[in-house]
Amino acid sequence: MQSKEPSIHTYDYDDDLIEIACSARERRWRVYRLTDMVVVLGRGSNPHTELQLDACVEDGVPLLRRRGGGCAVVVDPGNVIVSAVLPMNGIGSHREYFGRLSDWLICGLREVGVPSIRRAGVSDLAIQNRKIGGACIYGTKDFLYYSATLLVHPRIELMERYLKHPPREPEYRRGRSHSDFVGSLSGGQVREAERLAAALRAALNQIDLEKFISQETRPERQRGEGFSLPDVLLTNQEIVSKMDNPILSLLNARKAGRSISKEPLPENVIVELVEAIRLTPSCFNNQPWRFLFLESPEALAKGQEALTSANCVWASRAPLFVVGYSRREDDCVESDGRVYHQFDLGMSAMNLMLAATHHGLVARPMAGFEPEKIKQNFELGSDVQPLVMIAIGLPSDDERHLPERYKETDKRPRQRKEAAEIVTRL
Ligand SMILES: Cc1cc2nc3c(=O)[nH]c(=O)nc-3n(C[C@H](O)[C@H](O)[C@H](O)COP(=O)(O)O)c2cc1C
Repeated sequence: MQSKEPSIHTYDYDDDLIEIACSARERRWRVYRLTDMVVVLGRGSNPHTELQLDACVEDGVPLLRRRGGGCAVVVDPGNVIVSAVLPMNGIGSHREYFGRLSDWLICGLREVGVPSIRRAGVSDLAIQNRKIGGACIYGTKDFLYYSATLLVHPRIELMERYLKHPPREPEYRRGRSHSDFVGSLSGGQVREAERLAAALRAALNQIDLEKFISQETRPERQRGEGFSLPDVLLTNQEIVSKMDNPILSLLNARKAGRSISKEPLPENVIVELVEAIRLTPSCFNNQPWRFLFLESPEALAKGQEALTSANCVWASRAPLFVVGYSRREDDCVESDGRVYHQFDLGMSAMNLMLAATHHGLVARPMAGFEPEKIKQNFELGSDVQPLVMIAIGLPSDDERHLPERYKETDKRPRQRKEAAEIVTRL
């Protein structure tokens, strides 16, 4: 027997924004938090199918219905909401604008130190394989309303209590329970939601929404679903604690994974990798580094020939191999014996890997290859020293090609020496 119809109110927190945007015919947006916990149903959500209604009624949880679609969610003060309204002239392209607004938000999040966020499924935002946000749209011929909720410090135990397993789910959820599927952007404090809201507000203010809407600013990447990284969202807790330092966030996000998708990389990403190399400092500004970008099937095959079999087994899927090489005489050689070309090459390789990380790519450096084979296959001079090959690509959740030993090692937390062992402060 179904319990009686619950009373559901309208989610009207953004109605004033819609009104102003429509009357002024201008784009409007805002970032905010709710002061109390509510359960918000999608436009077509059936409360009997999606909610643990008895628990909601017992706890007196307010039930609201939003304009946009999607399944029911719990929204609490640990969430940050980003809503935007675009005046429209007629129906159409709503989906496209949905993607562009999400890209705008992703761009803002990167600015505040959340670099590895991506669109996942129809309407989610995810880091690795965890949902850390969801968005919905509602459009008429006059306006498009977009609202995204970011899970900064969500009360996941309340999701378990108030929400049933949703009737529809994105592929990357793979049947996981709320607590296995939902991640958090926070190190564990609600006040971090307010901090992130403030930082995001400032960052989005600096980003030209107009450009995203008109698509002068192209989204940096569109990526397939699914990631091969750990089940627990550890690094993002650290990311938020380092939110004031985007460089540390980026360094923290970089990890030499081995699960790489065959999907080719967008041109703009390749261009940025090259720019990252060019921006590297070097001794006397000698810029001794040289790189081969192996992109064509022929070049990739020649690169693979040089790899050790242990590297070939996982790296051969990569759509891009970068070979870094240099020559002793192209950089400083000090009279006391110090030689700098490989030092500078290393720094440029690091810059490249960080630029790849910014795009959410895997970039694994390899010493396990035959330099002589590279020289032979690419007709490099006898005096050059190929030092590193880097396998670069989008992360993949297809681990079938990975030997068992790598599946485990790639999921281990990062291993590093204690600071005191490597740094002496005098
Ligand atoms: C110079 C260099 C050579 C490396 N060679 C290989 C290699 O041949 N094969 C491999 O799987 N990983 C290789 N790695 C990756 C390291 O194992 C990895 O960076 C290290 O374990 C630290 O992990 P993290 O990068 O995820 O922090 C190499 C890394 C560097 C910097």
